[in-house]
Amino acid sequence: MAMTQHDRLLIIDFGSQVTQLIARRLRELNVYCEIHPYQGVTMDMVRAMAPKAIIFSGGPDSVTREGSPRAPQEIFDYGVPILGICYGQQVMMQQLGGRVESGHGTAEFGRAYVEQKAQLDLLDGWFTEGREQVWMSHGDHVAEIAPGFEVYGTSPGAPFAITADASRHFYAVQFHPEVHHTPRGAKLYENFVKLAGFTGDWTMGAYRQEAIDKIRQQVGDAKVICGLSGGVDSSVAAALIHEAIGDQLTCVFVDHGLLRLNEAEEVVTMFRDHMNLQVIHAQEQELFLGELDGVSDPETKRKIIGKLFIDVFQKYANDIEGAQFLAQGTLYPDVIESVSFSGGPSVTIKSHHNVGGLPEKMGLKLVEPLRELFKDEVRDLGRELGLPAHFIGRHPFPGPGLAIRCPGEITREKLEILRKADAVYIDQIRKHGLYDDIWQAFVAILPVRTVGVMGDGRTYDYACALRAVTSVDGMTADYYPFTHDFLGETATRIINEVKGINRCTYDITSKPPGTIEWE
Ligand code: XMP
Repeated sequence: MAMTQHDRLLIIDFGSQVTQLIARRLRELNVYCEIHPYQGVTMDMVRAMAPKAIIFSGGPDSVTREGSPRAPQEIFDYGVPILGICYGQQVMMQQLGGRVESGHGTAEFGRAYVEQKAQLDLLDGWFTEGREQVWMSHGDHVAEIAPGFEVYGTSPGAPFAITADASRHFYAVQFHPEVHHTPRGAKLYENFVKLAGFTGDWTMGAYRQEAIDKIRQQVGDAKVICGLSGGVDSSVAAALIHEAIGDQLTCVFVDHGLLRLNEAEEVVTMFRDHMNLQVIHAQEQELFLGELDGVSDPETKRKIIGKLFIDVFQKYANDIEGAQFLAQGTLYPDVIESVSFSGGPSVTIKSHHNVGGLPEKMGLKLVEPLRELFKDEVRDLGRELGLPAHFIGRHPFPGPGLAIRCPGEITREKLEILRKADAVYIDQIRKHGLYDDIWQAFVAILPVRTVGVMGDGRTYDYACALRAVTSVDGMTADYYPFTHDFLGETATRIINEVKGINRCTYDITSKPPGTIEWE
């Protein structure tokens, strides 16, 4: 119901690694789009969605291979503009009567320049000086274009780099306009949605209202439980649901004793006192730290924390009478079905690390009001809902908390030291205006004591490691290139201000081969 007021665009996914980027480019233009794997696209589904335009993504297969992915043939009679990209271009050509070839000399990978051959609405204002840099990544090439198509751009390796049947608004490009290496690619998407009649009606203000209506419709007068972690996703989900159903929502904030300095108080105060949410502050530090006592194996730590978390959450949730729903901050990248070429379609749904398995166990239905959003859109929505900017921009924090930043045995003493050191480090980063340039920064306390000298005395205290990385999605990461001055000043501050640490190192491992966290 919620999305019916929007203009919609359908992206048919043929399995490209960068399909999500197409969606990003479109969302930036305030266009609502959905990615669907080609296997699930039927004409009934298309008619139900009623898209104003369709995009065929790239993909790893070869259209020359028998049984390779196709779009439903009738989609070409549906009457809306279609843009085919890379594999999508080749599918279009093949299905409309052209010919694609593979073999020697047809591959082209990397940067290329496309030259303009004729005017086309898709290309309005795109070419600078008659040519434009693009990113090519294809093994096959179109050998013969389909009837009705004409050539509008060529590159040395792709004589049919841009073709179109302008009368039917079918467009086909060999390159990837959605990637960073096609610097002005966004302009093509802008032109495409404009010629398809999109009005840019996908805004956060509209989304907020529709999401609220949808939550009310789904939940009725039932009660909802939400596990609040203090992270951005669960916080925004809770704020949105609260706006929709008020006190029918109860949040459970599990304090496992592995949080950062003042973190529990800040989260609970903000939600309970400033935003008037019903928040249960589950103070279970003793339970968690007790079970972790003497444990040093990283996987064992994670398993203990994960299991206790579920037990604790369930215990508190059971006390909330009549709860029928569990709210989760699941995001769009977690629910997009990915296309698997080894077997049938595979679905990657990341269960929330904290409450995985709980809904079935407790017989709860899910409320997932962020399912259509990307991470940065969640932040926009958070701002729209009035969550403080510093809260929305917070670095990610792992579910197992400080446990995985404390290699070896976890002791209360070490956690205390770690909290203080981490607070000084983050303060330094904020003071130098670097916080928003960094994906994640934290201190790990090392299971080793080293000798130092302070004043006239010998010290024998813990060493710590500072970590700061840049990343796009946490899957890969680079260490952040702090200046020597910054590192020196930070080490001095930590050693002076935090009793128990007498040595600081900076971790310059990228991911891979390292991971971001130490465990
Ligand atoms: P790694 O250490 O695997 O971390 O490079 C990648 C990102 O994931 C976060 N992380 C977790 N987040 N539960 C979470 O919610 C976890 O168990 C967990 N382990 C790692 C990590 O902080 C980084 O942002």
